Amino acid sequence: MKVGVVGLGAMGSGIAQLCVEAGLETVGREVTDELGEKARDRIGHFLTRKVEKGQIESFDLGLLSLTTDLADLAGCDVVVEAIVEELEPKQELFAELDRVCRPDAVLATNTSALSVTEIASATSSPERVVGMHFFNPAPLMPLVEIVRAELSSDTAFEQAYALGETLGKHPIRCHDTPGFVVNRVLIPLLNDCVRVLDEARVSVDDLDAGMKHGTGWPMGPCELLDLVGIDVHVHASEALYDKLREPRMAPPPRLVAMANARLLGRKSGRGFYTY
Ligand code: CAA
Repeated sequence: MKVGVVGLGAMGSGIAQLCVEAGLETVGREVTDELGEKARDRIGHFLTRKVEKGQIESFDLGLLSLTTDLADLAGCDVVVEAIVEELEPKQELFAELDRVCRPDAVLATNTSALSVTEIASATSSPERVVGMHFFNPAPLMPLVEIVRAELSSDTAFEQAYALGETLGKHPIRCHDTPGFVVNRVLIPLLNDCVRVLDEARVSVDDLDAGMKHGTGWPMGPCELLDLVGIDVHVHASEALYDKLREPRMAPPPRLVAMANARLLGRKSGRGFYTY
């Protein structure tokens, strides 16, 4: 099987890493050679660490080829998109993928809060478009949500599910509703956590300790927001609020202010914590 990954940022490079680890021929597409090489270095680094720690025996980074040209995805069986989380660029990309890819290739989006059906509507074959929503960090989180859009075919849906299994993930099936399964629950929950910071006048450290030691979360909500990216979370919250109009979905002003101040979490070096 040959898999294409479009966009090799945090999510896309993690997905490409999973493909290489699973021994699949992988084509990674970035907008510049430099960004592609940066992703390859990152993938090589994490896989080397896994070998050093005895988690895998070996890996073949030669399975990953890099390109800036979408036409190089023509031979892929499945293409997973992980570009910027905006509807218009995703629709443009899917229209182009629809032209360049084989008619039986599955086109999957890793969107976390946009409508897979709306993305699929930009293609002339929406039946082959599905959602494959990985969680951050993709190589470490076992879940992938396999999302059925309005017009997804059973074949495309099951092929995506099978790919999830091949990548060693625990896939779950769901329909294309705002936030799918996990973000529908997690986004308002994280927003509540941030509101509690002000309401209960609890410190960031104590809130994180509370959720870790009181409920067994592997990391506290503020640590998690820093990992996800404050901007990514605010954007996803806004998208869900737009669709559902539930007050808890709206991003708390404190998070919006942090995003505006570029306090984005780990990726910018400072969020709730300093890195
Ligand atoms: N690939 C491979 N290894 C990676 C990696 C990657 N991309 N990123 C980090 N690692 C490595 C670390 O470097 C570390 O290796 P070293 O020994 O070389 O340092 C190893 O993985 C383990 O790291 P940690 O010690 O930090 O691992 P941990 O046991 O503390 O677990 C965690 C880390 C899995 C992230 C855990 O804290 C966790 O489950 N946190 C919750 C994360 C979560 O909820 N994610 C979902 C976010 S929401 C989302 O993604 C939805 C959305 O749409 C926005």
